[in-house]
This record gives sequence, C-alpha cells and structure tokens, in this order.
Amino acid sequence: MKALLLIGGLATRLRPLSLNRPKCLFPLQNKPIIEYLLENLSNAGCKEAILAVNNLVDTIERHLGEEKYGIKLHYSLEETPLGTGGPVKLAQKYLCDDDFLVLNGDILSFIDYRALMNKHKNNKSTATLTLTQVKDPSRFGVVRFGSNDAIKEFVEKPTKEEAPSNWINAGCYALNPEILDYIPADKKISIEREVFPKLADENKLKGYRYYGEWIDIGVPDDYLQAHKILQTKNERASSIHPSVKIGIGSKILDSIIWENTSIGNTNEITDTIIGANCIIGDRIKITGAVIGDGVTIKNDIIISTGTRVWPNKIVEASIVEAKEIK
Ligand code: GTP
Repeated sequence: MKALLLIGGLATRLRPLSLNRPKCLFPLQNKPIIEYLLENLSNAGCKEAILAVNNLVDTIERHLGEEKYGIKLHYSLEETPLGTGGPVKLAQKYLCDDDFLVLNGDILSFIDYRALMNKHKNNKSTATLTLTQVKDPSRFGVVRFGSNDAIKEFVEKPTKEEAPSNWINAGCYALNPEILDYIPADKKISIEREVFPKLADENKLKGYRYYGEWIDIGVPDDYLQAHKILQTKNERASSIHPSVKIGIGSKILDSIIWENTSIGNTNEITDTIIGANCIIGDRIKITGAVIGDGVTIKNDIIISTGTRVWPNKIVEASIVEAKEIK
C-alpha cells in the first residue's frame, strides 16, 4: 500500500505559529501530527509514502529523514503550490501502478486505512472518500448520497441550510490511478472542487463512512481540541513540552506550550497556544491567544481572547481588545 501525504499548505490560519513550523510538525502530546498518520499507515501495512511538500521543506526533511515507522519516504517538491490535486499528478511516477491513498497531513483520526482500501477495491470506483459526520458541515466539503454509498453530489462549503447531509470529506481518499487522467500537469488544482464533482457526475465516486474520532487541526481552537481527544481522561489538562519551566502558583488550563518556553509565577493561562522559546513573566493572565515563537511577555499583563502575537515580539502592556501584534 502506498500513500501520498499533502503537507505543502501555508497554514495561514495558524499564524504566527506556522511561520516557522509546518503544520504537519505541530505537536499533539509532544509528537508531530504527521507521526500519528505515519504510525497508523505503518500499522495498516503501508511501506512507501510520498510527502508532497513546498513550504519549510528543510524543516520537514530534517525531522522525518528517509524512513519513519518502517515506511520509505519520498519527497515530491512543488516549485509553486499545486493545491490538493496538482501534487498527485506531480507524483504520478510513484502512483501509476496500483490503487493508493491520499491523506491531508493536518488531520487526527483513527481511520482503518486497510478497511478503506478493501472497500475501495470492492467498489471498483475511481475514488472512495472517507466521510465523517459533523454538526455544522458549512466549513467542509459535504456529500449527497445515492444508493450503496455512491456520492451523487459533492458541495464545497455550503451554508448550513443548503448542506445536502452532515457527512463531510474527511481528507482521506483511496484512489485508482485513473484519477491521474483527471488532473492536468503543472497546474494548481483543488481535488475537492475540480475533480470530485466531475467524478460524482460520472458515477465514479463512492463514500466510506467513518464513525471514529476525527479533527482537522487547521485553526487554533481545533488544534487545542485535538489534544483533548487524546486526553479524554483529564478534561482540563494541557499539553506542555517537558523542557518548559513553570513557576510557583501558575495555572495552565486547556493550553499547549511548545519547547524551551519559561513561565513565571502566579500566571493563569487558559485556552492558549504558546510557541517555542518564549519568556512569560509573573502575574500574567492569557486567555484564548496564540503566541508566536520567541515572544517575551513582561510582568502584570492581561492578554485577551483572539490575540495573536508574532514571533520575537516583546509585550509590555496589556492587550484588552483582541488584535495581532506584528
Ligand atoms: P490555510 O492556509 O490555513 O487554509 O491552511 P493550508 O494551507 O494547510 O490549507 P488546507 O487546510 O486547506 O490544506 C489541507 C491539506 O492540504 C493540508 O495538509 C495542507 O498542507 C495541504 N495543502 C494545501 N495546499 C497545498 C499545496 O499547494 N501543496 C501541497 N503539497 N499540499 C497542500
């Protein structure tokens, strides 16, 4: 089994943390999200993966090297971003001989890839999309079913009222090499918007319903939520890198703190993500913020919900209304 992992996006919604670190290396319980995907692929018998990259490539290569969890890794480098479809065409030399998987690199799930692949082979369709159910499908690609899990229509980001179901694209597909005929070479293509609707029209698109945990870490709230999925035993727990120093009387709730950050005394940090190498002073209250790498926050400061602080800034006064400090 081969898989192509889409990990070339800019992750603009996770700025400033994604300025220095690609989203696929964002830690969940101190392990990069891509390692959860690779481990799960390895358990399903995958031996080869293609990493579709174009942004912060050196950082990714340095971290993952040539092999991980027994999977041989090939890097497929785009000169300019090719979207979610173009990278599949670019890597066609690896993918033209058998069915393969394509995975978004920013999703935490426990999908049984082997079962998906078996279902796909039985379907004899060009693509089998993993589908997951959500309460509000309006941020996602939503499907309308025909009979036997055929997908009749694929609608990207409909309004809540117009959504044909609450089953959405889970960012994990089994594809037949025939898909390569639907993607032009050297072009930025959205597989969701430009290829799947065509396959649905031609009755070549099927669904695989997945009922387990699923979350896309693309925005700070969902990145925080992904930790909670992994820590169901302790609801208010935070994920703090072992190198972080924490002073006396500081409370850190539902937050994520990356490596080498130091946190002073009697702070209250809630629903917040703090990058690496930050210095957080004493008597500070931060709620619902995203703090970039290398930021210093002086003593006696309040930072309110929605604030984002860019890397290496020094915060010397309270931020009472949410804003971006660049
Ligand atoms: P935002 O800028 O915050 O929308 O994030 P993003 O750039 O990651 O886009 P999105 O969340 O829609 O991407 C879904 C998946 O596709 C992620 O795993 C991305 O890394 C990946 N992806 C998005 N665009 C590209 C691209 O041009 N090339 C490659 N190789 N992967 C991409």
